Amino acid sequence: MKDAMTIRSFAEMKKTGRKIVTVTAYDATFAQLCEAAGVDIVLVGDSLGMVIQGHPNTLPVTLDQMLYHTRIVSRGLSRAFLVMDLPFHSVPVSLDSATAAAVRALSEGNAQAVKVEGATPYVLQLVSHLSSHGIPVMGHVGLIPQSVHQMGGFRIQGKTPETGARLLDGARLLQEAGAFSIVLEAIPHALAREITDAVTIPTIGIGAGPHCDGQVLVSYDLLGLNETYCPRFVKKYAQLAEIAKQALGDYASEVRAGIFPPADERGGKPPADERGGKPPAETPKPEKP
Ligand code: KIV
Repeated sequence: MKDAMTIRSFAEMKKTGRKIVTVTAYDATFAQLCEAAGVDIVLVGDSLGMVIQGHPNTLPVTLDQMLYHTRIVSRGLSRAFLVMDLPFHSVPVSLDSATAAAVRALSEGNAQAVKVEGATPYVLQLVSHLSSHGIPVMGHVGLIPQSVHQMGGFRIQGKTPETGARLLDGARLLQEAGAFSIVLEAIPHALAREITDAVTIPTIGIGAGPHCDGQVLVSYDLLGLNETYCPRFVKKYAQLAEIAKQALGDYASEVRAGIFPPADERGGKPPADERGGKPPAETPKPEKP
């Protein structure tokens, strides 16, 4: 098995120019698929409020829900590095509640780091507090979904010289506060390049062009599972919604027509001795705490 990823791996990858592959996951099955594909960072994003829970934004997601999903994702991972989003519910309330949430992310959720949105003085204080107490923090600037109402919708950020300069400043301050990496979401490509060149920690882009040190996408988007909404910058590497609908439709037709399950109790498969051996033993997977 390859060595497990750590924040030192990402610092090294920035130096050598090897891109950091990041994807969101919300359950153990998807986590296992990410692991098998060699993904470097798995993010349990609060995007689960939209893709799993069907909300219009990430604001209703609770800390307990984040912890539940992070824990089940952790059971599917061995090499990839696991990051949990600190949800809106926990961050702006107080430094104490945000710190307590981050502690629970690592101790109960089995996360290895947390992600926090923005670069306000309050967030910088939080990042500094957490990272100086052994909790790695991934920053997130540009389009920060937890501030959707303040931004007036999900829109590209940093388009003017002033707003671009503010984002560049924010990224520098996050680095100074101790963040180990920064997500750059929905900002002009040139600005993402400028930020990536200006900081020594890796940048992970989403809708920020090719110059970042890594990329992140929402798994449901890249797999084409989400048919209701898909941001323009997403590339769909598969059309799983089509395949799933076809398979579910075939199943429904066969059940209604009495074709499935077959009358043959062996389910159409030859018994084990005709296959020349014993059926494979079920190997129970070790339970993660
Ligand atoms: O919540 C999320 O999934 C995210 C990524 C899209 C960066 O924050």
